Amino acid sequence: MDRIRVKGGARLKGEIAISGAKNSALKLMAASLLTDEPVTLRNMPRLADIAAMSDLLMQFGVNMNVRRGAALGQSDTMRLHAANVESAFAPYDIVRKMRASFQVLGPLIARHGEARVSLPGGCAIGARPVDFHLKGLEAMGAAIELVDGYVVASAKTGLKGTTIEFPFASVGATENLMTAAVLAKGRTVLKNAAREPETQDLGNFLIAMGAMISGLGTSQIVIDGVERLSGVMYSVMPDRIETGTYMIATAIAGGEVELVGALTSSNQALIGLLEKIGTEVKETNRGVMVYRNGIRPNAMDVTTGVFPVFPTDLQAQYMALMTIANGTSRIKETVFENRFMHVPELARMGADIQVHGDLATVTGVEKLKGAPVMATDLRASVSLVLAGLVAEGETIVNRVYHLDRGFERLEEKLSGVGAEIERLAS
Ligand code: UD1
Repeated sequence: MDRIRVKGGARLKGEIAISGAKNSALKLMAASLLTDEPVTLRNMPRLADIAAMSDLLMQFGVNMNVRRGAALGQSDTMRLHAANVESAFAPYDIVRKMRASFQVLGPLIARHGEARVSLPGGCAIGARPVDFHLKGLEAMGAAIELVDGYVVASAKTGLKGTTIEFPFASVGATENLMTAAVLAKGRTVLKNAAREPETQDLGNFLIAMGAMISGLGTSQIVIDGVERLSGVMYSVMPDRIETGTYMIATAIAGGEVELVGALTSSNQALIGLLEKIGTEVKETNRGVMVYRNGIRPNAMDVTTGVFPVFPTDLQAQYMALMTIANGTSRIKETVFENRFMHVPELARMGADIQVHGDLATVTGVEKLKGAPVMATDLRASVSLVLAGLVAEGETIVNRVYHLDRGFERLEEKLSGVGAEIERLAS
């Protein structure tokens, strides 16, 4: 298994190209099942999760081609063509690797009238049930059974629009229901819907295919079903979690980095915090410039929440920054239980963190020390790399396959701005 070696202490200078958003790209790929015409996706990130979704879609008979971007910073273009859906079976072996595979359920029922999809796996960050997805589909008239770890769903005469109110503004449930509703009969109203930028990107993609959707970016999304959707060419939005991660990398290591292609609008909660602790963030005509002088930041509390509140997917990275802050910060995780698996690993590097339930109290230390550490999930693993950027000596991050799921060419991007980082192939 590959490992990543980081030697701390280098200031960062230069530019990093931001990739297309993983959490949008995966959903757009799944939604390409909704039409028998070709769909072309530009600005695709090159990630293990994208490869896993490609494998899954090929099982259903989707014809796929990828045109590779040649250089660092040039993205891939993917063409997907679901002329016929030959099978609607999503096996455990693929779905267990990535929870987002479950997002094929809505499109498959809408287009094919039935589906057999394994219950999901993905990062071990809490129970992560799919009850909202299933209750919503049942309310739209689907018959759902759970058989041997599989969801067996059918709606032979089609789905019917209805009003669904989510107990929590779940990203996955909103998106699965939205993709099911676009071809349903009549109007579907999703209340307490997710407002995340990636959910809006999916909605805009569906609208470009001919769907009738209003209320994107608000907590009530209204979808009027249409007879059919057409093919489309669409550019995936920039990855706000990758953007936020490199903003924090610059804040932790010090330096001046331009994030080319990044948007400030989807990262306001993080930018507000970074500015308060003495990091400058400015829009440029190519993206966003981040500047920090390398003095220890001040400690600031944060609570994660649904968009536009601070994202849970940046909690581990922000915690890495707070480990070297001046003072004590409290970091509260409200979206997932069990999302503090990076804490014992950061502690191995000398961080002082106490966890009580959903609250981590971080007392900043003057110096972290490099150590061998283990990646435990996608976002947790990158927090260890960030800590390594500022730690004394060498940090070796094991199990980097977690990183490869969600961060495109991380070590190339960071070494391109002067970090001492390399991949050690197994
Ligand atoms: C998506 C993102 C993930 C991000 C999360 C929250 C993708 C591929 N993943 O995950 O990176 O961290 O949003 O922004 O886009 N829940 C239920 N029942 C359900 C569905 C969800 O109880 O049927 C709970 C979950 O256990 C969790 C909370 O709702 O506590 C939020 O989950 P959700 O928004 O659905 O996250 P995902 O879509 O899985």
